Amino acid sequence: MDKKIGETRTNGPYTDLRELLQQVEDIGELRRVQGADWNLEMGCLAELIYHNSPDTPPAILFEEIPGYPGMRCLSGMTNSSQRLALTLGFALSKKPIDIVSSYRDRMQTHEPIPPRVVNTGPVMENILRDDDVNVLKFPVPFLHELDGGRYIGTDDLVIMRDPDDGWINIGTYRSMVQDEKTVGLWMSPGKQGRQIREKYFKMGQPCPVLICCGHDPLLFLASGNELRYGLSEYDYAGGHRGAPIDVVNSELFGLPMPAHAEIVLEGVMYPGETKLEGPFGEFTGYYNREQSEQPIVHIKRIYHRDNPILSIASPIRPPSDFSFSKCVMKAGMIWDEVERAGLSGVTGVWCHEAGAARMFNIIAIKQAYAGHARQALHAAASCQSASYMGRFTVVVDHDVDPTDTFDVLWAISTRCDPGEDIEIMRRAWSGPLDPLMVKNMNSRGLIDACRPFERIDTFPPVARASEELKARVAAKFAKFL
Ligand SMILES: Cc1cc2nc3c(=O)[nH]c(=O)nc-3n(C[C@H](O)[C@H](O)[C@H](O)COP(=O)(O)O)c2cc1C
Repeated sequence: MDKKIGETRTNGPYTDLRELLQQVEDIGELRRVQGADWNLEMGCLAELIYHNSPDTPPAILFEEIPGYPGMRCLSGMTNSSQRLALTLGFALSKKPIDIVSSYRDRMQTHEPIPPRVVNTGPVMENILRDDDVNVLKFPVPFLHELDGGRYIGTDDLVIMRDPDDGWINIGTYRSMVQDEKTVGLWMSPGKQGRQIREKYFKMGQPCPVLICCGHDPLLFLASGNELRYGLSEYDYAGGHRGAPIDVVNSELFGLPMPAHAEIVLEGVMYPGETKLEGPFGEFTGYYNREQSEQPIVHIKRIYHRDNPILSIASPIRPPSDFSFSKCVMKAGMIWDEVERAGLSGVTGVWCHEAGAARMFNIIAIKQAYAGHARQALHAAASCQSASYMGRFTVVVDHDVDPTDTFDVLWAISTRCDPGEDIEIMRRAWSGPLDPLMVKNMNSRGLIDACRPFERIDTFPPVARASEELKARVAAKFAKFL
């Protein structure tokens, strides 16, 4: 597999979501849908479109939403190889492994760049304060039939400041509308945003928060994936952009919001104050969590652009409007992290969409020494990006394409001796969305589907034509192929 995919910034940078939307339309990947209602129609349309065209999923821009003149909703902005390439500034490619590879190459030189505070930006075009606050001013979708409410934050950025050392964390956590002035926020145990909130609550202090609901999708890629504790998603995204992200400090708590954001809610959570939240369709394809008491956010300010675009991520049985993008990002992050941990010989990583980008991951290596395959297997199962809610990790030889399910199953079937080559890791980090979880922990199946190293030179050769023979015969008989 070619690891050196050209990583040129041929397609960027862009200023904001709107400019990027234009670029997406220019490459033919934007579908405009008029007239869909917030009540179930947008969610169902996203499901129909993503399940009907899993190989060419477009971004969907919902326009002319009944009752919300001028406002729009956007689903699936990063959910294709080409849109990811535009967002990350990679050379355009339709092959997912090219994007994974470009990501891994980028991370060799990636340096975090802190955001730049500016006085104002488009997000300040409209400000609603106190009594004027109404989150239902926007076309907040009710996404799936069994959901417990309308969710304003799905493809969102939940921005918080660590009270100890002041660093800014951003995570994507769902937020459900409770009423016009309050939303619930669900953060899974162990998540960095939750750790920060618990610090405030343990000190008996209110926890300030911003919820951004429409933004440069680069920030969503940073926010929805596990970065190391203490690394701000703003800095990480700036490192990808090669320039600082512009932020404006919020009026009440001085929290930094993206200057080009579409909609930002500013609010506060109080210790001990909760309301029922959920249920909500989940990324694994189930409703595993019942309604539960969760902290609520009192919204004190709303900042928004004229004719704002509300971004949506609708978790369902995959594929969903964000599952492909998670596969690519996770695969790139795992590849980068295992190499940083010292692993050599990695030729590819892939997180399968059926495993919702977390539960069925594959690493490919060129075996160089006895024990190499198990080292790769354990590293790929335990690094930060793979740790939460993993299930199966597979290691394959470099002649197997990790993105090709058939190839991977063939390797498991023919190179993995279950008695010798399947290991179980127990008491690993899971969470309430895992349908099999007990006490926030689960077990992992680690599958070594590499040729046994001690037999690597004598293992039966693969019965297939060589690349040279295929090329020669294909050229000669082109009219039959
Ligand atoms: C579309 C989407 C929705 C998500 N919703 C939630 C959620 O509701 N609660 C949660 O704990 N994690 C959720 N996650 C996962 C977190 O965003 C992810 O683990 C992220 O790394 C959390 O930020 P942190 O690393 O700063 O804790 C979601 C991810 C995505 C992409």
